Amino acid sequence: MKFSKFGQKFTQPTGISQLMDDLGDALKSDQPVNMLGGGNPARIDAVNELFLETYQALGNDGSFREDINSTATSSMANYSNPQGDAAFIDALVGFFNRHYDWNLTAENIALTNGSQNAFFYLFNLFGGAFSDEKSKSVDKSILLPLTPEYIGYSDVHIEGQHFTAVLPHIEEVTHEGEEGFFKYRVDFEALESLPALTEGRIGAICCSRPTNPTGNVLTDEEMAHLAEIAKRYDVPLIIDNAYGMPFPNIIYSDVTLNWDDNTILCFSLSKIGLPGVRTGIIVAAPEVIAAVSAMNAVVNLSPTRFGASIATPLVENDAIKDLSDNDIKPFYQQQAKTAVTLLKKELGDYPLVIHKPEGAIFLWLWFKDLPISTSELYETLKEKGTLIVPSQYFFPGVDVSDYQHAHECIRMSIAADEDTLAKGIAVIGEVVRKLYDEAK
Ligand SMILES: Cc1ncc(COP(=O)(O)O)c(C=O)c1O
Repeated sequence: MKFSKFGQKFTQPTGISQLMDDLGDALKSDQPVNMLGGGNPARIDAVNELFLETYQALGNDGSFREDINSTATSSMANYSNPQGDAAFIDALVGFFNRHYDWNLTAENIALTNGSQNAFFYLFNLFGGAFSDEKSKSVDKSILLPLTPEYIGYSDVHIEGQHFTAVLPHIEEVTHEGEEGFFKYRVDFEALESLPALTEGRIGAICCSRPTNPTGNVLTDEEMAHLAEIAKRYDVPLIIDNAYGMPFPNIIYSDVTLNWDDNTILCFSLSKIGLPGVRTGIIVAAPEVIAAVSAMNAVVNLSPTRFGASIATPLVENDAIKDLSDNDIKPFYQQQAKTAVTLLKKELGDYPLVIHKPEGAIFLWLWFKDLPISTSELYETLKEKGTLIVPSQYFFPGVDVSDYQHAHECIRMSIAADEDTLAKGIAVIGEVVRKLYDEAK
């Protein structure tokens, strides 16, 4: 069968689609697997209990039917309008204004089927072919101010890839008084001298905060600087808050979250424990919300209401924030601590440096001068039943062929239970020690 160029763009095998299939297949095998490779959130008892109570209440309140006696605030028996479930949007307006004083109205919020869906819309709205005032075509890209960045951005453009990426400054830092850590920082000098920026070929700036894969949290100063550059060049600043404040709030450094008309904030229900309900939230200027709603109408008719129905009461009574602050965040913070202790035990005397754990559900490990690439390391670890993700896929917009650092890191999930974490880290330790020892 012949596919159009559009079809070919999405069906051609990409490194990451092969890797994801590989991870999925490994999980289906009958051999035990130490799964440190995926992006699934952890199973947390308090989270499961709250969602179960909420599902049960939904079943009883008439959400699944629309009749005059229904006490439901939103009904799954009807489509919402393309902007998304109105009751959830109203609850979110109240929630954000209550906690952040942003003066939002319903015109500032749209829902999507997961935030991945939001990035598909936003990167195609702000990246790709534009006509300038003289009707000349200009190709604009999405500026990623700090790579490594989220793998899922890589292939969302309808045609081609439109990214301009900046490599990080790498700073050795201490973490809780210990050596052996580093932190990525935005290289503003390189960023501000990019011809694509100064010559008007950037359509938007985007960063995830906390960052998948590294667990880095851009500082308030870095965010303020990015916001200033975005305004100066009249492009929006898109902030991917999938792991950030106020839910799931997997963020340990002391930072703030800001919004203004030039900022597009993307939130998700996935990492609070509901990746299956596919619910993303965009907070932006009304013009952007209208565009997203129009895209929703064409692509989805209307976004799913299931996640909205579950989350509405939890947003109205702040339970989503309490759950994030008191259960989700401490859980991952403890997991990060455990994983760091295990890694130091296994590889403390070897050239392992760990990105300072500041948030998200991953640790990012840098094996300095590793004798093989981490893609090869991935294969060896897989043979031994441990799955991680090698670093080369996390550099959208960068030609990694001559960037050694992009072949020396791995992303390791910390969402697994403690036993899996310990077994997986023991395998990583054994394999990596042998590699360094043999190269001596
Ligand atoms: C940084 C980041 N952004 C966005 C997403 C997409 O999440 P979802 O589509 O489940 O909301 C993910 C998922 O792993 C992510 O890690």
